[in-house]
Amino acid sequence: LPQAVVFDLDGVITDTAEFHFLAWQQLAQKLGIRIDRAFNEQLKGVNRADSLTCILQHGNQAGAYSPAQRQQFMAEKNDLYRQLLANLSPADILPGIAPLLAALRDAGCRIGLASVSENAPQVLASLELSHWFDFCADARALTHSKPHPEIFLTACRGLGVTPAQAIGIEDAQAGIAAINASGMYSVGIGATLTGAHYRLNHTGELAWPDLLAHWQAAQACP
Ligand code: G6P
Ligand code: MG
Repeated sequence: LPQAVVFDLDGVITDTAEFHFLAWQQLAQKLGIRIDRAFNEQLKGVNRADSLTCILQHGNQAGAYSPAQRQQFMAEKNDLYRQLLANLSPADILPGIAPLLAALRDAGCRIGLASVSENAPQVLASLELSHWFDFCADARALTHSKPHPEIFLTACRGLGVTPAQAIGIEDAQAGIAAINASGMYSVGIGATLTGAHYRLNHTGELAWPDLLAHWQAAQACP
């Protein structure tokens, strides 16, 4: 049996991936840079500073701003994002997530969080889900953003399991790469994701018996 399941947050547990996009889009617009949802796929799972770099590069403004101005842009984006979070409640938990958490606990499977968002603790609290998590990786203590495996390795260590004993669930291409690089079993949520060991279109399709069956099949023929 898998010993742990590690969840990404934004776009897996709740649809805050959309809020990150809307906030970045508003900031980018101010800088005269247009970003759309297709471009936004590259930003998923990428930390705040690297996301800004990516957006400025996209607008051919890579070297245009001082470190202080960039800090200011990041603060503005975070303010916009936090305004969008204001009404977040348990009603915003994506389908399939609450039953999966309950099934994991029943099965004795540990539950972890691997989000590079510094707002993750507040989002979990607003969703009233914090108590389900045995370990949440601290985004502020990370050196690398996804696709580097650091956050998933940190989560496994915090949960006291080896990566080979654990499953990671992600909606970001960078997140799938991070899970795979860590040696965990990857579950991708989203129609356009590639490289996941097991891929679903929506969280509503997540079911513990199916997940277990796919994980077990992969153990039989790796
Ligand atoms: C997650 C999201 C990214 C976001 C990052 C940092 O990985 O997928 O879109 O940029 O967290 O979030 P933060 O709340 O710290 O700005
Ligand atoms: Mg995500």
